[in-house]
Amino acid sequence: MSYNLPTENSLRGPFQPMRFEATVDECIVTHGEIPKDLAGGFYRVGPTWKRPTKQGPNPLLSMDGMVQAITFEDGEANFKNRWVRTPKYVLEAARKQGMFEWEDGGFGDWRDTAYGEVKRDAGNLGVSRGVANINIFPFAGEMLASSEQGGPPIAIDPITLETRGIVPWSPKLSAGLHTPAAYGDATFSAHPKWDPDTGVLYGWTYSDEAPYVVMHYVSPDGTVDTRELWDAPYNTVAHDIWLTPEWVVMPFQPFLVDKKRFAKESNIWEWNPELPIVIALIPRHDLHGEIRWITTDLPAQYIMHTMSANVVGNELQLDGPIFNRPPFPFEQDFAAGDDIALFFSIAKSHLGRWVIDLETGKAKSEQLSDRPSELPKVDERHYGKGYEWGYQVGGVVKRSGMKMNSLVVTNMKTMADQVYEIRQDQPAAVLEATFAPRKIDSPEGDGYIIVPVSWWAEKRGEYLIFDTHDITQGPITRIELPFQIGWTPHGHWMDFR
Ligand SMILES: [Fe+2]
Repeated sequence: MSYNLPTENSLRGPFQPMRFEATVDECIVTHGEIPKDLAGGFYRVGPTWKRPTKQGPNPLLSMDGMVQAITFEDGEANFKNRWVRTPKYVLEAARKQGMFEWEDGGFGDWRDTAYGEVKRDAGNLGVSRGVANINIFPFAGEMLASSEQGGPPIAIDPITLETRGIVPWSPKLSAGLHTPAAYGDATFSAHPKWDPDTGVLYGWTYSDEAPYVVMHYVSPDGTVDTRELWDAPYNTVAHDIWLTPEWVVMPFQPFLVDKKRFAKESNIWEWNPELPIVIALIPRHDLHGEIRWITTDLPAQYIMHTMSANVVGNELQLDGPIFNRPPFPFEQDFAAGDDIALFFSIAKSHLGRWVIDLETGKAKSEQLSDRPSELPKVDERHYGKGYEWGYQVGGVVKRSGMKMNSLVVTNMKTMADQVYEIRQDQPAAVLEATFAPRKIDSPEGDGYIIVPVSWWAEKRGEYLIFDTHDITQGPITRIELPFQIGWTPHGHWMDFR
């Protein structure tokens, strides 16, 4: 069956779906050379429109995941992209139609998130709703694709991008927001962190009902240690965490999630700046030890993505781009019938730091730069060890949001930064970067930064490689793809050495 592409904002311009699977061997290099010491893969995943859902609109969070990977070896690059063949994808591919409908949405406007329960019928009974479309990260020799609390992690072969299936430890995860449909159906975080030495993955699920957050520490052998946070102050969209040598630091921010809101014909999210930001310090090495809860008087701000954290004396420094509000649509901004406005068009963020005095529990917020910034990344070999180097996509203020156009490298100790403007006049989406080390044991921050760029108006894609010695002179390598690469929110590097 063939379909017209719907006309909603979330499918236009940079969001035009990449509905095909491509294999590009020996990618064309249009500038410079691929460093011979680059050996690994840069994997990204994004929600990709395939066909209309059973209820028509297909909000981003319900679209099938598509993995894109560029792998490097001996000065050569190879690109592939493949659908994540989840149980949902396989069912709908066989039937050639959308088989899912949700209790929320169907409005055809900003209220559609398809984040409520799936309406179960004979056509989708026993099939996980999971779409694995927000992030992909290395774990125990595989790449795991994960959604935002939309389904269980899905293992992907790092070389072929073949879907290996729901991870075998999924039955040990909690259900989160949604009623499981089958054995092993669960949810997981889109932004777990991991211990680079032991491989332990620090993940969690969240729900609109207590316990609002359930922590899951997963070992590479598939063991899962679980703790329900019964002292959590309120339900929250728990999107990201910080990792320090001692703690998993989880912020409770008043970006709330509640399925009961559907009864008011609203979407699932609420922003309630009256509630305090509460920081949970959860022991990293003993999940069942004492959790320290710090109720702060931080201003109403929102950190969507963490950069990293340092502990300096009695000070806990929690770094990341700080938004003035979550970049998601709320009922105070939109009326019935309004199209969805996306992310950076409705909010802006600057690199900042929440500083917590560990003796007194006092917290303060510092703005570290005037430049709009998001999609923070670090040298992930140093997760949980403290850090010096941070990478972001930088931009300029545009109306109530921001236009993202550059790569920014910041020394987080001195705040000296380097900037390279990738996009000037031409429309382009500068996507989240990754750091790749020069050698497996190079010092922190010594290596390359790889930035995917979608020149969507010209229907072509690029990967730019920068040398961390100096990014201001521009990319040392430009790799071109002869088609528009699909929009992806997140991804990670896997080293092959
Ligand atoms: Fe995210």
